[in-house]
Amino acid sequence: MKTKQNQPIRVAFAGCGTIAPLHLIGLLAQSEIVQLVGLADPDLVAAKSLARQSAELSGQSEPDVFTTLDELLATTQPDVVHILTPHHTHVDLACQALQANCHVLLEKPAATRKSDLEVLANAIQQSGRQLGICLQNRYNFASREAHMLLTAKTFGPVLAARSFLTWWRDDQYYLQSPWRGRWATEGGGLLINQAIHTLDLLLWLVDDPVVSVKGHLHTDHLEQVIEVEDTASLLLCFEKGATGVFYATNAYPASSDPFLEIVCERAILRLEGSDRLTVLDRSGNLLEDFPQIAKAGEDAVSEAVDRFIPAGKSYWGKSHALLIADFYQKIRQEQPFAIDLTEGRRALDLLFDLYDANRKRQ
Ligand SMILES: NC(=O)c1ccc[n+]([C@@H]2O[C@H](COP(=O)([O-])OP(=O)(O)OC[C@H]3O[C@@H](n4cnc5c(N)ncnc54)[C@H](O)[C@@H]3O)[C@@H](O)[C@H]2O)c1
Repeated sequence: MKTKQNQPIRVAFAGCGTIAPLHLIGLLAQSEIVQLVGLADPDLVAAKSLARQSAELSGQSEPDVFTTLDELLATTQPDVVHILTPHHTHVDLACQALQANCHVLLEKPAATRKSDLEVLANAIQQSGRQLGICLQNRYNFASREAHMLLTAKTFGPVLAARSFLTWWRDDQYYLQSPWRGRWATEGGGLLINQAIHTLDLLLWLVDDPVVSVKGHLHTDHLEQVIEVEDTASLLLCFEKGATGVFYATNAYPASSDPFLEIVCERAILRLEGSDRLTVLDRSGNLLEDFPQIAKAGEDAVSEAVDRFIPAGKSYWGKSHALLIADFYQKIRQEQPFAIDLTEGRRALDLLFDLYDANRKRQ
């Protein structure tokens, strides 16, 4: 094992764009055990700006910056690489890092093609390193509590599940990063980029193989700007007989909290946003409105995150920091991190099939 107890874990980032500051804050909350040693981005202005931000917030020296991951790996020899780049680069960069003997924390989606998932699986196996996927919504209070109740089979078998995701993405979002909105570089649209989180939660909570899926994908809202879908409706049939209905769109100007409902034999679980979980009886009467209680150790992560958010800036959720804290704890303890490639591809396998079916239909 390369990571030695009592020595900081050496961390590097590939990609210094929109999501990178969230990973930086997650790392700062772990500053006792990790050290950010390098940043790679072909856009050196972005890399230098993040390096400055890191030094200002941590009070330590700036991490070195590079234009390629190759150069970074050869020079800084990190233990862990976070891959925070456009979707189509994920598999190559992750394989490079694994071959250099690094653990990898990979932003979703793991890949843009089914065949690449096998390439990634082989690279993980050959390296003996861990690869974790950033599906941070599994760390939301509501999803975690619902998962515990469902795993304990508290309310009997799942009969049905539904989910609504109504968000807004305008043309500026796509113009800001032109890799978005293209089949070749984003690998899809709403499903692979935004709705993947909610679809993953639905599959994780129902926890039964999908035996059939029918889907309708549309580009209703930004036809002139993007090639990919911005709206999708799916009908899922699960092996033990449950039915799932899923609707998602990026065309709703009043972006709202995702809604997820799991109907079990003896109760209905409703998740609204990241924190609200209610349990109702089968007639719809409220049985329990769960108070939000942090798990042991989470308060410390939350406090550390609060310390590093620049004053006046809003912050959408602490789940990234919780996932990052858990990932490093597992690396430190040489234990497997739960959201590995097998978990990270649950939603991907399904949406690749949907994309294929949609292409054939067209
Ligand atoms: N988990 C979440 O909720 C969440 C939220 C937002 C974004 N993301 C994911 O984060 C990833 C990045 O998204 P973003 O919004 O930050 O994109 P972005 O366009 O803002 O930034 C991407 C950065 O990667 C750099 N880059 C491109 N090729 C590179 C390479 N070969 N090596 C190193 N750097 C490279 C670009 O120059 C850019 O600075 C995507 O996978 C996206 O889906 C996840």
